[in-house]
Amino acid sequence: MIKEGDLALIYVDERRSKVVKVVKDKTLHTDRGYLKLGDLIGLEWGSKVRLSTGVTAYVLKPTLVDLMFKSFKRATQVIYPKDLAYMVMLSGIGEGSRVAEAGVGTGFLTAVLAWAVGSRGHVYGYEIKKEYIDVASRNLESAGLSGRVTLKNKDITQGIDEQELDAVFLDMPNPWDVFPHLQNSLKPSGSLVIFVPTVNQVLKILSHMREFKKLTNISVAELILREYQVSQEALRPKSIGVTHTGYVITSRFIKEP
Ligand SMILES: C[S@@+](CC[C@H](N)C(=O)[O-])C[C@H]1O[C@@H](n2cnc3c(N)ncnc32)[C@H](O)[C@@H]1O
Repeated sequence: MIKEGDLALIYVDERRSKVVKVVKDKTLHTDRGYLKLGDLIGLEWGSKVRLSTGVTAYVLKPTLVDLMFKSFKRATQVIYPKDLAYMVMLSGIGEGSRVAEAGVGTGFLTAVLAWAVGSRGHVYGYEIKKEYIDVASRNLESAGLSGRVTLKNKDITQGIDEQELDAVFLDMPNPWDVFPHLQNSLKPSGSLVIFVPTVNQVLKILSHMREFKKLTNISVAELILREYQVSQEALRPKSIGVTHTGYVITSRFIKEP
């Protein structure tokens, strides 16, 4: 049942879907008509409702991706779901894992890591800009994930405070400057997962990895996703979309070369 204060995805069509907070006396206005949000209280998730004009809409329980794209405030470039899913799966983390991450930015990766480690795990997020910490903190709170995350207004190249971590995730311009700190923070066999937008950075990372010698099982991947427009008359790839995101580099930390 939908309760007052819940976040709900009101889906009219692909172009008109919005995450709203269900509050009595609030109204959602769209170019297809309005919807009184108080009327949603007590309905079951998945219910069909009508906008003021009679147009049909559905009330869906938002997924984490819905919240990230339709409700989180955006402060920085973010990592997209195709890359986030791959990064989490290859890292080997799961329920109960402890992970560090930098930089937090908008908090897309932080939210996905918090979701993946579950209520028994924890995410330590490093971010140099205080204003981004504030944005990410509000975003995580709205997704109900803030209890699993500690955000730190710190430069991760100066050190990682935590020990025995299962994985370290880096989405920042100079990830190689963090390598010396892995020694005291990452469990042997733990994962280092890096996301960077350019090939130049990939080359630099690989060169530093070779020099550092304590990373093995190194992989580099670019994930290419082609989305389709779902139309009964014209099922075909979408003509516009995100054409480039970045590269995912994964590796495992070893005790000695
Ligand atoms: C591209 S954004 C991260 C986006 C984030 N992964 C997401 O999905 O929302 C990169 C962030 O790294 C932060 N940053 C850069 N260098 C850093 C450092 N040495 N320590 C901590 N954060 C850093 C920047 O301030 C910026 O917010």
